[in-house]
Amino acid sequence: MQKMKAQYGIDAPNVVLYFVVAGAGCLAVSFVPGVPPPIPTLFPWVSASWLLTALILILASTVFKLRLRDRILDSLHLKGDERVLDMGCGRGLMLIGLAKRLPNGEAVGVDLWRKSDQSGNSSEATLRNAKAEGVESRVSLETADIRHLPFDHQLFDVVISSWAIHNIRDLEGREVAILEALRVLKPGGRLILVDIWTIDEYAKLLQGIRMEDVKVSRPSFIFLVPTKIVEAIKPIRPFVDKNLTLSS
Ligand SMILES: C[S@@+](CC[C@H](N)C(=O)[O-])C[C@H]1O[C@@H](n2cnc3c(N)ncnc32)[C@H](O)[C@@H]1O
Repeated sequence: MQKMKAQYGIDAPNVVLYFVVAGAGCLAVSFVPGVPPPIPTLFPWVSASWLLTALILILASTVFKLRLRDRILDSLHLKGDERVLDMGCGRGLMLIGLAKRLPNGEAVGVDLWRKSDQSGNSSEATLRNAKAEGVESRVSLETADIRHLPFDHQLFDVVISSWAIHNIRDLEGREVAILEALRVLKPGGRLILVDIWTIDEYAKLLQGIRMEDVKVSRPSFIFLVPTKIVEAIKPIRPFVDKNLTLSS
């Protein structure tokens, strides 16, 4: 029997579809008899640039993202017995990569499984991927909003989130999600956030509430727009969060 392969889907599938339809539309229009100049010469180039953008976005989800994932997770030097949380895990790219590095640990994923954010998104697809990668016994999933994590305080050694938090429309909601991540993180635990447009906000918040060792990576352009990684350590001492509440 052929071995099943994990499929992590395409991010923002509607955006990719938009570029394909626009590219194909431009190409079709340029061949319509009698269209005035400069359409017959200009539109094939416009079409090519949109179709190329779609191709790059598909390669980003299916190839480049996996390479970046491996680089990020290798850099964590996990001991192998940690309990980790992936917020907005989708079809399990980070989650399963983590579980593979945790022979004696546990990887927990939380998501709302929005198909507009990732094609074919569902908890079943994630469990299928975990099975295909042979890590299903170390993976568990919860359906929940990352602004309200269904976990006790200080449960995880590492909390990670990749390309998920920017999907929360308002700044306040994004900050609530990050404060939730810190709530469930053990003192001394590590937070790793990978994201696009809104990533600098996260670094600012983490510095503002005096997380330790806040680092921002250089950008990578796998999705054309810059992706950066922000890392921070939750201090052992209690800290004061943005709303001036003492958190542990
Ligand atoms: C672009 S996908 C990325 C998935 C995965 N982290 C990865 O890197 O492949 C964004 C994910 O965030 C999830 N998501 C968006 N907003 C969320 C929220 N408020 N709570 C939980 N999950 C959310 C979506 O359902 C989707 O699975």
